[in-house]
Amino acid sequence: MIDDDFVKMVIELQKKIEYDEEKTYSKIVINEYRNPTNFGVIENPDAVGIIKGPCGDTMKITLKIAEDIIQEARFWTDGCGATLAAGNMITKMAKGKKLQDADNINSIQILDALDGLPKEHNHCALLAVNTLHKAIKIYKKTKRKMI
Ligand code: FES
Repeated sequence: MIDDDFVKMVIELQKKIEYDEEKTYSKIVINEYRNPTNFGVIENPDAVGIIKGPCGDTMKITLKIAEDIIQEARFWTDGCGATLAAGNMITKMAKGKKLQDADNINSIQILDALDGLPKEHNHCALLAVNTLHKAIKIYKKTKRKMI
């Protein structure tokens, strides 16, 4: 049986976690990692990029591309909340863009769109950018070979 004191303790703990999150991350970051709308993997993608960052976290980005425009973009990661937020943001930004424009997205733009990340998590934005760029690079290389 769960007593009232235990329930109170859980509620207090939950509030403390939320308070700490709000002190550490922007509202945008919290929203992106709590509701990562592009989390997952596209079946039969046209492009795939996978990178394991120096911290040991991995990101995978899959793309559907038609006429050099990114039709769909999804990401997967085993990383932290900041990585989830960066992956979600970059896939949202890449979708609908020409490959060249998506290839020009940089980590400053991701950090700006997220309203910043704690300094020790800036590399999470870089991981997302590098993974997208890798997917595009491999796609272009493969396409060139087919022509
Ligand atoms: Fe390393 Fe987020 S902590 S990618």
